[in-house]
Amino acid sequence: MNKAIKVGINRIEFSTTENYLTLEKLAEAHQIDPAKYLYGIGQSKMAVPTPDEDTISIAANAAQDVLNTMTPEEVNTISTLIFATETGVDQSKSGAAYLMGLIDIHPNCRAFEVKQACYGGTAGLQMACDMVRARPDESVLVVACDIARYQQNTPGECTQGAGAVAMLITADPDIIEIDAERGCYSADIMDFWRPNQFKHALVDGELSKDAYLNVMTSSYQGYLVNGGKPLDQLEWLCFHQPFTKMAKKAFEHLSAQYPEQMADKTDAAYSISQQYGREIGNTYTASLYIGLLSLLDNAEQDLTGQTIGFFSYGSGAVGEFFSGTVNKNYRHAINTLANQQKLAARTALSYDTYCQYMYQLRDYDQANIRYNPTSGSNFRLAAIHDNKRVYERVL
Ligand code: HMG
Repeated sequence: MNKAIKVGINRIEFSTTENYLTLEKLAEAHQIDPAKYLYGIGQSKMAVPTPDEDTISIAANAAQDVLNTMTPEEVNTISTLIFATETGVDQSKSGAAYLMGLIDIHPNCRAFEVKQACYGGTAGLQMACDMVRARPDESVLVVACDIARYQQNTPGECTQGAGAVAMLITADPDIIEIDAERGCYSADIMDFWRPNQFKHALVDGELSKDAYLNVMTSSYQGYLVNGGKPLDQLEWLCFHQPFTKMAKKAFEHLSAQYPEQMADKTDAAYSISQQYGREIGNTYTASLYIGLLSLLDNAEQDLTGQTIGFFSYGSGAVGEFFSGTVNKNYRHAINTLANQQKLAARTALSYDTYCQYMYQLRDYDQANIRYNPTSGSNFRLAAIHDNKRVYERVL
């Protein structure tokens, strides 16, 4: 591997649904103390997709936002489009192929989908970094998108969410250089899964929390063995966030295991990366990178030259610990105001409408989904004809 070539994230944009449910409303419906969801789980809102929002339309919105920041010459350098999801809409045709028909990209690139639960986004990112290290004139567009759905009235319901992130990976990146050192750990664990016939995930909640923490420790140890920086040289930490309390548990776990390396770190080292996730919920493959965007947008101090440690976890299970250093151009390359507006412009749903959208109207058996056309997004699922999904560009 040519470590002399700096590669990483040159552009990053996110998108989410136009509606959300507050966790106070969910707690009221479940007749429990809202403090359990707000503080025990650490979530305020969950993004809720309407029938015309799916993983393709939400992903297309984020991907097009990245393309909108690029010149036609820059777009022509994209050699590969990688789509990471565990909410695929088809067993054969990839979400990447759908995106090719929607976003302003050229056809001379390879487009495909990757899956390994929430780890898929990181699989895409690291694959993209290695591709650009090998061919520095090329760039890779990585798009990660999921809708997290659990059975109604189960403990997982309060951790639902939906969102996408799109990242352009290039040489000499403006936002963050991703280090070549990384530590991975994979094992066969039944902590969370979704058989083909299910629309919602199945989960062993307690096992999943333990697996997350154990895989994190093994991944970090592997990262150190491979020449990674010890925790005291990582100013910030971004963890996969199924719910924000889980990231707090990850921070506390590392603090207990490595008290000297963690001694100087305050809660701010990881909690700024939680601000967006708290408002959106679990976005599986996109969650870690929405956390990164939250840190870049919301940290008051200049992060230039500072190093971020990342832990990516995908149930089943695969983990990876890696790091990256923030570039001096990052503030010009991210759209902080637009990101904050995307969250502020959303609409709150009643509990009954949430139940309709999340559980009753998601079979898409209607010929034309003009249920509640989305207004603020570029793309929507307009219909399903003859089992073919039809998308349309709204803006
Ligand atoms: P639960 O069992 O109902 O919750 O569901 P609990 O009883 O464990 O309570 C949760 C916390 O709330 C506890 O705090 C309580 O003390 C506290 P903790 O001990 O954990 O610090 N609490 C209160 N706090 C304040 N006021 C109150 C109150 N009452 C209780 N009144 C569970 C929790 C996580 C199991 C459930 O939400 C679930 O199954 N979620 C889905 C699975 C999940 O997210 N697992 C995380 C690790 S696996 C992962 O990250 C991968 C994943 O993203 C999928 C993928 O890879 O694709 C999920």
